[in-house]
Amino acid sequence: MPQPEVAGSPADSFHLPLQRIVLTGFMGAGKSTVGRLLALDLNWPFRDVDDEIEAAAGLSIAEIFRTHGEPHFRELEHQTIRQLTGQDRLVLGLGGGAIEDPRTRDLLLSTPGTHLVHLDASLETILVRCHGTEADRPVLADRPNLEARYQRRLPLYRLAHLSIPVDTLTPEDVAQTLRQKLSL
Ligand code: S3P
Repeated sequence: MPQPEVAGSPADSFHLPLQRIVLTGFMGAGKSTVGRLLALDLNWPFRDVDDEIEAAAGLSIAEIFRTHGEPHFRELEHQTIRQLTGQDRLVLGLGGGAIEDPRTRDLLLSTPGTHLVHLDASLETILVRCHGTEADRPVLADRPNLEARYQRRLPLYRLAHLSIPVDTLTPEDVAQTLRQKLSL
């Protein structure tokens, strides 16, 4: 005779309610702005992975890249995301490159209650929006490799549970679209 499912069994974890909305996408896609709006609407806290890394290291992202190199930054990034993914009722904004770490991708795509959302902006939009922020964004300053990075990341972002094209939307529109799509 089939046994009734026990609450808390592995099968049960797939039916957990939404606990975390994680925003991914290239620099300038609006992850922090939309994340803050959404968090306000939901009355959940918003955490920005870059801000967390800077606060813990006592250094800006640009200083971490300069002093310790990009691989060190990527490791801090993964560890910070892993730690934050343990929290419930949270809107989380990732840095644009976090998606390239397969451990981070697996974590965000398979942790029950986590919804990974891609804010999909074209490179043209990104260049306009990020103009003048090169000093704070070492990856943007690395212009010769920027387009290749964008193209390499695009299929990875699109693995997200949901992708929203944002070029023609205001941050408020994006937050509202997201709430509609997720029935929040
Ligand atoms: C990066 C994006 C930045 C920051 C770091 C590296 C990237 O975050 O994490 O400068 O590799 O695209 P934003 O996407 O919030 O600008």
